[in-house]
Amino acid sequence: MELVSRMMDGSISYDPKNRLEPVLSGSVVQQGGQIELKEVPIFEGCSQRQLQRVARIARVLDAPAGSVLTRIGDPGDEFFVILDGTVSVDVAGGRPVPLRPGSFFGEMSLLDGGPRSATVVTDTPVRLLVVNRGDFSVLRREVPELTRVLLVTLSQRVRQAEARAAQ
Ligand code: CMP
Repeated sequence: MELVSRMMDGSISYDPKNRLEPVLSGSVVQQGGQIELKEVPIFEGCSQRQLQRVARIARVLDAPAGSVLTRIGDPGDEFFVILDGTVSVDVAGGRPVPLRPGSFFGEMSLLDGGPRSATVVTDTPVRLLVVNRGDFSVLRREVPELTRVLLVTLSQRVRQAEARAAQ
């Protein structure tokens, strides 16, 4: 819970009533907000203006353990950033890959328009930022650094997959 507790005086609000429920909290607003986006690694280099734009675009989702967030082969329309909790990516022919707070997933279907490449399931209760397909393009335009981070992470994941395949 460390990341979230550090984010509680920031710029994203969510309804505590919905905490750890699989409920989308609606548009993120910056006024009276509580999640400090600049603490989220992929947004740490952003200006205040960029953070405000991210806050307008993203929503907060709380989901219980055991929730399927993407299913391999399904169409995909959302990009996720983990704020709290862990998920597992079920990759073909290998052990599940754990993703921790600060990691993201769901970018592949939004980038290439193809189906989900893997099933992603929550290991614990999680809190996520969620960005839909239309807003993902806006987000990349508003935060150009995000595209570099996406490319670096994709490259790392390809290398890791190749290393696993070679074992
Ligand atoms: P997408 O294909 O949209 O939906 C499933 C997501 O799982 C995928 O985007 C990536 O974000 C993530 N993913 C797929 N393969 C891996 C992997 N080998 N390591 C980490 N994450 C992965």
